[in-house]
Amino acid sequence: MAKKVLVSGGAGYIGSHVTVELISAGYDVVVADNLSNCDMTCFDGVKKITGRDDIPFYQIDCCDYDAVDTLFTEHKIDAVIHFAAFKAVGESVAKPIKYYRNNLVSFLNILEVSKNHGGCNVLFSSSATVYGEAEVLPVTEQTPRLPATSPYGNTKQMCEDILRDVVKATASSSEEIRGIALRYFNPIGAHPSALIGELPRGVPNNLVPFITQTAIGKRECLSIFGNDYPTEDGTCLRDYIDVVDLAKAHVAAVTRMLGGKMKENYEIFNIGTGRPVSVYELVTAFEKVNGLKLNYKFVDRRPGDVTAIWADTTLANEELGWKAERSVEETLASAWAWERNL
Ligand code: UD1
Repeated sequence: MAKKVLVSGGAGYIGSHVTVELISAGYDVVVADNLSNCDMTCFDGVKKITGRDDIPFYQIDCCDYDAVDTLFTEHKIDAVIHFAAFKAVGESVAKPIKYYRNNLVSFLNILEVSKNHGGCNVLFSSSATVYGEAEVLPVTEQTPRLPATSPYGNTKQMCEDILRDVVKATASSSEEIRGIALRYFNPIGAHPSALIGELPRGVPNNLVPFITQTAIGKRECLSIFGNDYPTEDGTCLRDYIDVVDLAKAHVAAVTRMLGGKMKENYEIFNIGTGRPVSVYELVTAFEKVNGLKLNYKFVDRRPGDVTAIWADTTLANEELGWKAERSVEETLASAWAWERNL
């Protein structure tokens, strides 16, 4: 029988891509989402792409313990991929209580319910933000984490630690939790079908949705934050990972957990391409691949941005048997196709 994976936050940007890849790899998927930061657009897209009209969908808030418990009673869940969290860095600085309550309570509920239902495999969506402004690049999983500069970043670090501790406390018991934290670099792009993609509410915080919205005329001008960084062209360096490649990393990680292939009951993997790309390079690549001119200007640095971060992906490549495959050009073309389709 197919193994069953709960995707919390499965109607969102990354969750919807992961749902598609899980289903095409033969998993049964249950989606839980409170639709606080998305609508049903992507979930409808998932149904179209997979041709599956029967994916169980629970419109619940994972902060509601009883609702999560009911879901686990109705389904025998073999693994959970937990996305359900707030993710706007700036908002988290202004509203720390909202962020700590939501991001921590929902994850604690997932863990406690998993434990009470006889243990589970739990994959947590962490972030490269845990590394902060790293001294040595690229960063490996052993690179020390630095103090978080936002409540959002802090919740990522705290959830990693909570998972580690719960895994330790439940080891070899009838409530065993095994955990993997995937540290994403900068997820961008959309599914090649252009039926699912990033759907930011209001003004986008992240670079690529701002680029595509500027290109389509929803925004007047892209502001490039800082051109006086100590990099070749003066703009920041990031590791932009295609969202479909990222989704496939989740399938590899879940398969590793369910197949008993983990070397430790709690593991961490960097999920990136291993290639640094500057903001300016990304903007010009977008123009070139899509044959258009983007209205942009250089403005002051954005507070809290690090100069450069990219991943050493050796561990994920070797242990998960996974590698990022799509080129940044393909990814930028997919982001543009999605924006036009909206
Ligand atoms: C941020 C979060 C990260 C999160 C990621 C995806 C931090 C410090 N960063 O990463 O945790 O996982 O979003 O949601 O917590 N830029 C512009 N103009 C814009 C927007 C961005 O020039 O309008 C630049 C930024 O200065 C940065 C790069 O583009 O150099 C990428 O920015 P963004 O997409 O917001 O991602 P990060 O800040 O790297």
